Amino acid sequence: MNFLVTGGAGFIGSAVCRHLCANPAYRVTNLDKLTYAGNLASLRPIENAHNYRFEQADICDERAVLEILRRDDIDIVMNLAAESHVDRSIDGPGAFIETNIVGTYRILNAALEYWRGLSDERKAGFRFHHVSTDEVFGDLPFDGGMFVEETPYAPSSPYSASKAASDHLVRAWHETYGLPVVLSNCSNNYGPYHFPEKLIPLVILNALDEKPLPVYGAGANVRDWLFVEDHARALELVATRGRPGESYNVGGNSERTNLGVVEAICDLLDLRRPRAGGKRHRELIAFVTDRPGHDRRYAIDASKIARDLGWAPREDFDSGLARTVDWYLDNKWWWGPIREQRYDGARLGRATARPVENAQVENALVGNAPIGNAPIGDARTERSPAENAAESRKVTT
Ligand code: NAD
Ligand code: DAU
Repeated sequence: MNFLVTGGAGFIGSAVCRHLCANPAYRVTNLDKLTYAGNLASLRPIENAHNYRFEQADICDERAVLEILRRDDIDIVMNLAAESHVDRSIDGPGAFIETNIVGTYRILNAALEYWRGLSDERKAGFRFHHVSTDEVFGDLPFDGGMFVEETPYAPSSPYSASKAASDHLVRAWHETYGLPVVLSNCSNNYGPYHFPEKLIPLVILNALDEKPLPVYGAGANVRDWLFVEDHARALELVATRGRPGESYNVGGNSERTNLGVVEAICDLLDLRRPRAGGKRHRELIAFVTDRPGHDRRYAIDASKIARDLGWAPREDFDSGLARTVDWYLDNKWWWGPIREQRYDGARLGRATARPVENAQVENALVGNAPIGNAPIGDARTERSPAENAAESRKVTT
């Protein structure tokens, strides 16, 4: 079986490539543009595997995608290529519209043209798997509810709106043109090779550098955490056994407040890498201005994928977080160059009066230039937890 994984040099895509390549019956082509978030070092464990190959390309380039589909005789496309960071979508939505919406449209066109040229037998087995997020559902109140597959879409951020749009396109290509698609909507992933702009790796690396640990608002927002290797197993099942036209929710059943996550990381580091003078890592926590449009809570009901495809997470949050902290302690070769050359941990997504134009965002992204050099926790952003608790949910400035 021949897979095309797009975005395979990213956090989840690289876990999917590593997972699939462990099966000698699979051949995997990794198509990635290598934006600031793409990193071939994440593929080091499989870079010489007989069943793996890399192709630098843009999903917006329909012709290039079509050529690769034909050249590698693809059976299953797993589309993970995306701009993925909510805070960057606040600063510069243009790149999110380009890749997540226009890029999905282009790769759907390429897949449709390719699929139409297959034999009837190959056509029946072909799948276009679009990897999406629980953020398309908007958010939940703190006191209850879970996202099911039928939950109406109500995205809050430019990122989640662009993902919602792409999901709708994928469904439309199924309903209108008959392309055999499957979708999955997953909650927050964490684990090794996670780009350190996201909460968990950012906090680990800032703590190791003795820098402030930025907690948005009062740290009361809740996310449902899933270890990335559990997601990779779920994605293989959805891609190979999911029913065409259907979507599957994937989640870790591990809801935590952001403050709880940051404190757990601090406590693990106190044991594994104690600070000088007996100081505790929790002393580095800094409450900062909230994210605009910050969704309160996500929680996934994953009973459909459990029932229909037999999936369940293997890692619980405590063991997964300990594995993750240990991985960052042992793998500075991977994250050191990122912190030095690509992104130093500065605050992103404070919402300027007007979003930056697409061209400026593109300039900041290409060439892997260091981006975002404003200091964290400066006088304008620091607030007390009490002030933040009083702040309304949707901050607009
Ligand atoms: P990531 O930012 O780590 O990686 C994205 C990858 O896509 C990078 O390697 C980048 O170079 C590549 N890419 C970007 N634009 C491209 C383009 N135009 N053409 C080709 N490649 C391009 O993202 P991630 O966290 O690994 O997320 C992967 C997918 O999973 C995304 O679609 C995201 O929406 C979804 N998702 C992520 C999470 C999460 O917690 N990280 C949860 C649910 C769903
Ligand atoms: O739910 C799935 C989504 O999870 C994916 O679709 C996204 O691609 C992925 O980035 C992630 O989105 P979040 O916005 O939830 O992840 P992030 O790590 O940016 O933030 C997690 C929570 O922590 C969120 O409530 C904001 C908060 N936060 C984040 C950062 C970066 C902080 O408090 N401080 C921070 O410095």
